[in-house]
Amino acid sequence: NELYAQGQTGHQPQYPMTFAELEERASAAMPPKVWGYVAGGAGDEHTQRANCEAFRRWGLYPRMLVAPATRDMSIELFGMTLPAPVFMAPIGVIGVCAQDGHGDLACARASVRTGVPFFAGTLSADPMEDVAAALGGTPAFFQLYTPSDRDLAASLVHRAEAAGFRGIAVTLDTWVTGWRPRDLRGSNYPQVPSGCLSNYTSDPVFRRGLRPGEDATEAAVRELPIFGGPFRWDDLDWLRSQTRLPLMLKGICHPDDVRRAKDHGADAIYCSNHGGRQANGGLPTLECLPDVIEAADGLPVLFDSGVRSGADVIKALAMGATAVGVGRPYAYGLALGGVEGVVHVLRSMLAEAELIMAVDGYPALKDLTPEALRLVG
Ligand code: FNR
Repeated sequence: NELYAQGQTGHQPQYPMTFAELEERASAAMPPKVWGYVAGGAGDEHTQRANCEAFRRWGLYPRMLVAPATRDMSIELFGMTLPAPVFMAPIGVIGVCAQDGHGDLACARASVRTGVPFFAGTLSADPMEDVAAALGGTPAFFQLYTPSDRDLAASLVHRAEAAGFRGIAVTLDTWVTGWRPRDLRGSNYPQVPSGCLSNYTSDPVFRRGLRPGEDATEAAVRELPIFGGPFRWDDLDWLRSQTRLPLMLKGICHPDDVRRAKDHGADAIYCSNHGGRQANGGLPTLECLPDVIEAADGLPVLFDSGVRSGADVIKALAMGATAVGVGRPYAYGLALGGVEGVVHVLRSMLAEAELIMAVDGYPALKDLTPEALRLVG
């Protein structure tokens, strides 16, 4: 409504109003290497595209004569009420998308402005305590790449707890980097992460291992496999024993893994294929969602990969997702307009989602059920 009202006065929106335009303008604004890293995916990027295309196979039934005057977009998660069912998925190198390199802080500020929770990454340009300070109490989560050194892993988790993060998403699909031709071609990848190691270089356990006078970043680049190492079910049991924070398992797409995750004490499933960045040839994440939700049997299910609009958000919610994550779109917003750009992307997506609920006659998220959807192709 705000934007339509501005249009009446001849005001031109500063930021793109569609994802296609957002992508186009971001690709022109970002340095080519950074663009390749953020926009790219695994292999020929078939799975990455399929993530988006999967949404087009579903349509929402409109329901008339119920015109809900207000729409309730809030959700309950881990005993908290969150204002909207959308979150910023963790993007480890988000710092490189910001003009000043402090993308993690910018996203924290956008989260404060919108109430959209931020998943702060292990691979961050700023230590998690600084991100938490920028959040100023707005609920947020910490994404963990689990270092093989358990003392260091425990330290990261305990710091996240002390900093006030409300849960930990353990990323399971990225203990090695996927086959990403855009990065391999440009020898891009090795240069990206050195600015994203602040959670390691600021860590007391990590610093204890430094030799006198040794540069912490150089040591982190040399000694730490960036994403940790192989992570298995017994590692998960160990991690579970380290924290009382809710644990979300990111990267789970198979219903058997969901059931096993429940047995191992997971508090939520985070169904994702990393936006198609890790393994090409995989199923679009949306295709996996119904079986994951059935197997989760009431456990919260977070979802991301391929969400590009408010309509996509609504479809994932109707399938039964508890909350829906956005990845690349907010990174592009950050590259175009800093905090304002991220706020614009998130608010536009929420506004579109809410308008769909209004037009199509769904007063509350609980009314969005699988019966609201029909497969169209
Ligand atoms: C990611 N993603 C990611 N996930 C994670 O758990 N830890 C991380 O450090 C990163 N880093 C990262 C960098 C970049 C540049 C991108 C684009 C993505 C994956 C992210 O959390 C999410 O799963 C996907 O981005 C969702 O897909 P879409 O929305 O980008 O299609």
